[in-house]
Amino acid sequence: MIKYLDLKRINGLYDAEIREAVNKVLDSGWYLKGEATRQFEEAYANYIGTRYCVGCGNGLDALKLIFRAYIEMGVMQQGDEVIVPANTYIASILAITECGLTPAFVEPSSDTLQIDDTLIEQAITPRTRAIMIVHLYGRCAYTSHIADICSCHNLKLIEDNAQAHGCTFLLPFTSHLLPLKRTGSLGHAAAHSFYPGKNLGALGDAGAVTTDDSQLADIVRALGNYGSHQKYVHDYCGCNSRVDEIQAAILFVKLKHLDADNQRRKEIAARYEREVSNPLVRFLCPVGSKRAELERRPVDSEQYSRFGFAPRDCVYHIFTVFSSQRDRLQKFLAENGVETQIHYPIPPHKQKCYKEWNVLELPITELIHEQELSIPCHQALTDEEINRIIAILNAFK
Ligand SMILES: Cc1ncc(COP(=O)(O)O)c(C=O)c1O
Repeated sequence: MIKYLDLKRINGLYDAEIREAVNKVLDSGWYLKGEATRQFEEAYANYIGTRYCVGCGNGLDALKLIFRAYIEMGVMQQGDEVIVPANTYIASILAITECGLTPAFVEPSSDTLQIDDTLIEQAITPRTRAIMIVHLYGRCAYTSHIADICSCHNLKLIEDNAQAHGCTFLLPFTSHLLPLKRTGSLGHAAAHSFYPGKNLGALGDAGAVTTDDSQLADIVRALGNYGSHQKYVHDYCGCNSRVDEIQAAILFVKLKHLDADNQRRKEIAARYEREVSNPLVRFLCPVGSKRAELERRPVDSEQYSRFGFAPRDCVYHIFTVFSSQRDRLQKFLAENGVETQIHYPIPPHKQKCYKEWNVLELPITELIHEQELSIPCHQALTDEEINRIIAILNAFK
């Protein structure tokens, strides 16, 4: 069986380095808020391109800490609205509702599967305080139009970067030099998850907030430490959400390999796109357009000047295919030894926990959830396994 995600094999690639890093923490006898955390936070802020990185317990906490900090700063208050893509993972929505805020669901574009920036303005009300973009599947969701909307309406731009570590945005009007900014540095604040299955995955739970805003970083750090800047002095009703030294040391090791790992994911994705030619297995959402095909290509400055828009970088956290016969395709792959997953079978607005939104009709979101299938795409796959996956996808009738 080719596993969807073989974490033992993936982490086995860095086995010696991880063991050495863990041993160093064990020898230090210091398990929280120490040198390993400081070193990882500094390296990750540098990598992402922000002034601050604050480690925390997981990606959901990272999102919640951002909202809680904005509430403490008086930027938001309970009942305010946050615009969010309707096809996101439930954690993005839970962070909003757990902070007493209200999500305003916006459909994704069928071209990119990312929030449709042409639909955002009509979702803005006097209570809107932020737009949360989610770089879903590893693809950049940011557009300059979204940034313009935020400045025009004085909204915070929050990135959920749980799925896109290392993804970049090509700055427009630069045909030769390709200055790239990473996702996680494009808005006012960003949340990152280092859940084991992520592109940069810990060996347990971990997360981080990145930002250039010193006040926000300070409050996020305090909130995750019982609301305290100074031991036994509590300015906020905080929580306990910290990254531990062992996870920070492991993440520091894996960060060094992230670009190479993402490159391998891109090569695998390119092979799937080139070599899978079965009309029953499509790469685009069924209502996707010609532009979508162009946007799937690798970042390339020439394309920007030729077509007038930046292609979207993707680090393929998830490689999506679409089929009107998704469930039969999944069964066929399983019978032939390929494990797959669905991201996600039920959209947030149709979940039992959000009964109040079950009546909403969001056709593109619902179509994605009905037809999406994720096939294995990670750095530890061998060429032979990729050949097999391609052959099986082509053999589906
Ligand atoms: C888009 C998105 N946001 C947030 C999260 C939450 O991250 P975590 O599982 O680390 O809490 C995840 C991952 O699980 C995710 O995929």
